[in-house]
Amino acid sequence: MTIHFIGAGPGAPDLLTLRGRDLIASSPVCLYAGSLVPEQVLEHCPEGARIINTAPLSLDEIIDEMHSAHAAGLDVARLHSGDLSVWSATGEQLRRLRELDIPYAITPGVPSFSAVAAALGQELTLPGVAQSVVLTRTPGRASAMPDGETLANFAKTGATLAIHLSVNKLDRVVEELVPFYGGDCPVAIVWRASWPDERVVRGQLSTIASRVDDSLQRTAIILVGPVLGSEDFQESCLYALGYDRRFRPQSADSPFAGTAPVPGDEGEVS
Ligand SMILES: C[S@@+](CC[C@H](N)C(=O)[O-])C[C@H]1O[C@@H](n2cnc3c(N)ncnc32)[C@H](O)[C@@H]1O
Repeated sequence: MTIHFIGAGPGAPDLLTLRGRDLIASSPVCLYAGSLVPEQVLEHCPEGARIINTAPLSLDEIIDEMHSAHAAGLDVARLHSGDLSVWSATGEQLRRLRELDIPYAITPGVPSFSAVAAALGQELTLPGVAQSVVLTRTPGRASAMPDGETLANFAKTGATLAIHLSVNKLDRVVEELVPFYGGDCPVAIVWRASWPDERVVRGQLSTIASRVDDSLQRTAIILVGPVLGSEDFQESCLYALGYDRRFRPQSADSPFAGTAPVPGDEGEVS
């Protein structure tokens, strides 16, 4: 018996992994975070499954459900939106399960920032422009930020920022970032990426606030950085003619000549 924590993806029901789908289908209990997990994903549950929306439950109540399933020898599919590695509140559930000696496993999901990049048709790391993406947020009612994790500190790097859980504080985000990125820095806000009613608003730090109305609440990411819409970047070496690499040795003298590529070993750039 295992509690399967499963990333349910950003919203589109077919952005669930095959492993996630199969685990849902084989688990007689399903606990799902109803605020963001799409209902269609629950159609994979087996007939007669116990299906519980955990949005109105406390942590104690959620763990009680897991405990009861464990005692009955039943697998549980535990669904959270996007991927589980960020802002999923799995940390506290896993800690309780370790204390109770209840086995669990984690199946990753498509994170929302990936769906946002897809909606924009955009790579977030471009050679010579940005090679890092900062997944961050601003402080919320329930979540203070650790001291060093300010937008200003991240902005000093010039990296691409993917700011979650903050669209309701857009003015403050803009105010903090303009001194570092400049008012003409491109910004995109993607609301409900991959949902049928997905919306994209583009602008610059100086204009974005005037383009957003109150209908864009909650489920949105603010992307900021010169990478957005940039056509002024170098091509990577990966496919460059003449670049000597394991998968494309350039001559018989190449250190890579005759070395059989190992699947998964893509070298420095993949
Ligand atoms: C509690 S966090 C969950 C993050 C999730 N674990 C992930 O991997 O993306 C919720 C925040 O993620 C972002 N988010 C989640 N789904 C989204 C989507 N489909 N489109 C845009 N932003 C989304 C929003 O910033 C939202 O406020």
